[in-house]
Amino acid sequence: MHKTRIDLPAEKRTSLCKLLNERLADLIDLKLQAKQAHWNVKGPSFIALHELFDDVAELLDGHVDDAAERITALGGVAEGALPVIGKRSSLPAYPLDLADGLGHVDKLSTAIATAGKLVRESIDKADELGDADTADLFTGISRDLDKQLWFLEAHLQADR
Ligand SMILES: [Fe+2]
Repeated sequence: MHKTRIDLPAEKRTSLCKLLNERLADLIDLKLQAKQAHWNVKGPSFIALHELFDDVAELLDGHVDDAAERITALGGVAEGALPVIGKRSSLPAYPLDLADGLGHVDKLSTAIATAGKLVRESIDKADELGDADTADLFTGISRDLDKQLWFLEAHLQADR
């Protein structure tokens, strides 16, 4: 941890950075999973899904940057290198042999829901660590993940 004049104790900042680095790994992995879907989707809804998956990836770019820079603002090191992300991400591995549109919707929905659950839990953890700003950051991410999950799951919910 770097020295900083920020008025949060070093011990809490260490825990917050660990928590943020865990979610950072999930979000980077999720962004790459959305790109995997964007590049490889096939089928009658190709263009709509191709564009929707890219919207998810683009939205995640902003959240990835916000989470990483919250870590550095707290005096920590944002760990965004790929080998660390691969090891640390909590998301299930994305299949490489998928083409069907609804198959991608299903897999990416699971990935978003998994990331969303962990971000929601992290809101309370950040709150318990006395950092309303990180809790707020997680809250914004959580709200966006829920919305993207809705956009995807709407493709699966027509017959209830
Ligand atoms: Fe593209």
